[in-house]
Amino acid sequence: MQPMTGAPIFARIAGTGSYLPERIVTNDDLAKTIDTSDEWIAARTGIRQRHVAAEGECTSDLALEAAKRALDAAGMSADEIELIIVGTTTPDVIFPSTATIVQSKLGVAGCPAFDVNAACSGFIYALTVADKFIRSGSVRNALVIGAETLTRMLDWTDRTTAVLFGDGAGAVVLKADSETGILSTHMHADGSKGDLLHNPVGVSKGFLPGEDRAGVVVKMAGNEVFKHAVKALDSVVEEALEANGIDRSEIDWLIPHQANLRIIEATAKRLHMPMDHVVVTVDKHGNTSSGSVPLALDEAVRSGRVARGQLLLLEAFGGGFTWGSALLRY
Ligand code: UT7
Repeated sequence: MQPMTGAPIFARIAGTGSYLPERIVTNDDLAKTIDTSDEWIAARTGIRQRHVAAEGECTSDLALEAAKRALDAAGMSADEIELIIVGTTTPDVIFPSTATIVQSKLGVAGCPAFDVNAACSGFIYALTVADKFIRSGSVRNALVIGAETLTRMLDWTDRTTAVLFGDGAGAVVLKADSETGILSTHMHADGSKGDLLHNPVGVSKGFLPGEDRAGVVVKMAGNEVFKHAVKALDSVVEEALEANGIDRSEIDWLIPHQANLRIIEATAKRLHMPMDHVVVTVDKHGNTSSGSVPLALDEAVRSGRVARGQLLLLEAFGGGFTWGSALLRY
């Protein structure tokens, strides 16, 4: 990786891609086995259905499909890629990293590949790291993926979490551009709130005696997380506007993390953005953690809503807590 020379370098999105597993589980399907209803889930979260990975289908498989589509959209082949970063909190295995597995499945080797674990903010964190590599001239392009199989660590009998999450992956190819691209990124974390949204199964912490897969579940204090999410996202979008000296009216699209429609609406309200300028996929995908922002972005691009030259604000909040934003000229 030799630094490039010359004028300002931006990291610009050259192509997007996404992938959702085939199987769809509706709210009514869940209501057959747990004490919930389509009405409750839709009213409290906006979710109507989610995709669930097939047995044997891993995070790297979803990531691979999303990556291939992003490469195709960018008109690039895998052997041209100089950096691969995967945001995920549900890696195939503890190691090797999902990024190196994806690299191998793409049939290439040599470029650096690593994972970033920032829970639902994983894609924003990964995008930020890749942006720094490109801006510094260390690489000319990067493949950035957000991919998850969150349903693998759900307690399907717990109605407070089972109804919320889904599986999926999204990817972008970033390329160095002399004119425009990612304008700013901001990342934050508050580790003191880790217990409010976590999966406590350990490696160095050790496994509990007799623990099996049934113990590997997401635990969340939903109400508390909700309040923190709204506050943190309010501040992170303000931070992005201020850092760039732009007025909220200049943003063409808000592409938020898809955890809960009520959280998305609160951020949109803060930005005075009409909901028809907010990309919403939570109804169809549920919360796909690191996958949610790039999935929403790809859907908006492929449906023709997001056009070249438009200003996009991406944001996310997740376990850790972690949160962040990216403001970019598409
Ligand atoms: O992506 C990372 C960040 N994650 C988030 O941002 C998620 C943030 N939290 C949330 O989205 C919401 O807090 C939830 C969707 C998880 C919950 O919504 P809520 O409006 O905060 O509901 P609640 O937890 O206050 O529960 C209200 C009632 C309770 O019953 P009681 O105590 O009032 O009798 C729950 O037991 O709803 C009950 N409930 C359900 N009822 C039917 C909880 N889950 C369900 C369910 N179906 N699935």
